[in-house]
Formats: sequence, C-alpha cells, structure tokens
Amino acid sequence: MHVPSLIEKKREGGILEDAEIRQLIAGYTSGEVPDYQMSAMAMAIFFQGMSPVETASLTRAMMESGEVLSFPESAPRIVDKHSTGGIGDKVSLVLAPLLACDNVWVPMISGRGLGITGGTLDKLESIPGFSVNLTTEETMLQLEEIGVVMIGQTADICPADKKLYALRDVSGTVPSQPLIVASIMSKKLAESLDALVLDVKFGAGAFMKTKEDAESLANAMCDVGREMGVDTKACLNPMDEPLGHAVGNALEVVEAIATLRGGGPADLRELVLDLSEQIAHVDRSQLETWLDDGTAFSVWEKLVAAQGGNPEQLDQFGEVHPANCIKEIRSDRSGVIRKIDAETVGRSSLLLGAGRAKASDEIDFSVGFDQIRKTGEQIGDGESLARVHARTEQEAERAANEFLQGVSIV
Ligand code: URA
Repeated sequence: MHVPSLIEKKREGGILEDAEIRQLIAGYTSGEVPDYQMSAMAMAIFFQGMSPVETASLTRAMMESGEVLSFPESAPRIVDKHSTGGIGDKVSLVLAPLLACDNVWVPMISGRGLGITGGTLDKLESIPGFSVNLTTEETMLQLEEIGVVMIGQTADICPADKKLYALRDVSGTVPSQPLIVASIMSKKLAESLDALVLDVKFGAGAFMKTKEDAESLANAMCDVGREMGVDTKACLNPMDEPLGHAVGNALEVVEAIATLRGGGPADLRELVLDLSEQIAHVDRSQLETWLDDGTAFSVWEKLVAAQGGNPEQLDQFGEVHPANCIKEIRSDRSGVIRKIDAETVGRSSLLLGAGRAKASDEIDFSVGFDQIRKTGEQIGDGESLARVHARTEQEAERAANEFLQGVSIV
C-alpha cells in the first residue's frame, strides 16, 4: 500500500476500494501508517466525502480492527444509545443505569471530548478511581453481574476508532458525515447489539448545523445499523442551548446524579426518557418510576463501585473537584432570555480546560459552567445567568465575557 497515493486519490475526489480502506485502517491501527498521513486522509475525506459503499467499508474496517463482543445464548436483549455530540450532554450517565433496570444488557462504548463537545469517558473519569479501560473478560463479567458497563475504545475493542477519534479531535476533522458514521457505528456494531437508539443533534452546538444534515447523518447511520442486523432508530434533537444547567466534566456528573435521584433539569430528564423508551421493554411511566424511586440510582452506585469508584462520594460529588475561582455571570438588563448559544458555551468551556487542544492535553475536571439559565425564562437586571468555574480569576473573567457574547435577552 502506498499511502500518499491513497491520500491523493481521495483529495482529488476518487473512490477508495474496500481493500484500500481495510489496508489503511489496519496500517493505522498497527502504527505502520503515522498520524500525519491519517490526518491528511481525514482532511481529504472531510472535503471530498465518501460514498455509502466507502462509508460502509470504513465502518466495517474500524469495527474489525478489534474484537466484536459475543454474548452467551442466555443473554437478555443487548441495547445501547449513542449521541452525535452536544454541549452539556450527560444523557448516557443517566440512561445506561436506567436501562439496566429493564432486564437488558447495556455494553456502552463511549468516547472522550470531541471538538467543542464533551465526552462521556472524560465525565466518568472525573469520578476518582473510575476506570473506563476494562478487558473484554471484565466487561462480560460486569454485564452478567449488573447488566451495564461503560467503557472506551480499547486496544481490544475498536482500537482504530480510539486513535482516529483522538486525531480528529485535534485536527479540525470532526464534522464529516462519513467519519462520524464510521466512528459511531464501528463502536456500536462491535457491541453486537440487538437494538440501538441514536440521538442525532442539530443546531449551534452540534456538528450538524441544520436539521437536513442531521437527517442525512441519521439515515446513513440507520442504513449501516440495519444492514448489520441491528434494530436502529434515530431521534433528531435540537442543540441550540446547552442541555441542562451544567457544562464541564465534574459539573455534569453532579447534574446526572441529581437526575438519577429523580430530580435534575427537566430537559435532561425528558431527553433520557424519550431515548430510553425507544429501546426499553417497559413504558415511560415505569422508566420514570425507576428514576424516582431510587432503582436507577442504585444501579448507578453498583456501576461506579464495579469500575473502581467510591459510591459514597456521589452524594457530595460537587465537593470532589472544587475550582479555584467560581464567579457569577450577571445579566446587564432585564427581559426574556432568547438565546444561550451552545457553541459559544462549549468553546469557552474547552478553553477553560474542560477539553483538549492537543491529544496529550490533560482535562481539568473542575472547570466549566453551572446554574446556566434556560431560554424563555425571565431575567432581571443584575441577576445571575450562570456561574463560571475556572482555574484563575483572569480565566473566569475571559470565560464570563465569552459566555455573555452568546446570550441574547430582549
Ligand atoms: N461520537 C462518536 O463516537 N464519534 C463521532 O465522530 C461523533 C460523536
């Protein structure tokens, strides 16, 4: 395989053969193809796109870069959910333990922060001791015991996505339909699911800015899923303002815990229920009962304990990662909040340290925004619009100014 020729072929709008894609992904996974060549290829794909046949080949090659989970005959229905990425999107932290109340198995493989969006793995790792790197054997044992596991791509499962995901995050190549389809569906297909629900976001804080683009992405993912025998459904959801009231890793875990305790923000709870009912055996009212009566929270405690965290810390989780500087962001007028721009909040949170600029960057779990108000609410002059959690006074000041640029009050 001559990688520069493949990059040039894609750069000029050519169609890559199945064998070429397989060799490229195998070479990238083994380390034979370096990051700089894969980065150039990702950019060529970003500009030239891929045909449905190429996208299917890429998805399959990435899935086959590692193991595909195989379950015993006696296993219950295997289900999962995946989001295309949003701001303040902590749905998975609530939905995975909730679904596990329903006599199904949820072998959730998630990702880290990507572009301006946060990642489930980074949020989980803000729980001290929580490991997202389980072996396949540990994964299977945990499913047998508690019906849910939340892990990342590993050297065993979807290693190609583990590398390419991190590379896309820092090379400006995230919002490409074929790359998103292959990234999401390779992980989900490696889970050998019976049913999958996709939360496809559109709007300011999503990779797909328009509903039409989100629809096209949803159709492409559903086609790949169904072709592989997975009952795949997609829900389109707006991502113009942050989900819930918090953005930032530990801050979002606090909000997820409140939701698992039957409280939490209304929009988060609704979205968890909307998505869960697409794949659960039970109806919405039973799912609500499991959130309200502590059943889902007790699965969450077992999940945290099984993966190395301390469930006793969960009730005071807001105190686990205190930021050096916490500052109110105040409105300079009264009126109705018309906009809190998710992209602005996501970008500012990334700059505070909640995401990465280079693949080697460490995440700061403590930073971000909380107590974010919602659009449609009335606000008075001088009232708080949100709080910023930052490492320094200067960074808090900068982030507060950025946040205000995304706000419209009339
Ligand atoms: N989630 C993923 O796993 N991959 C993407 O490319 C986008 C969202």
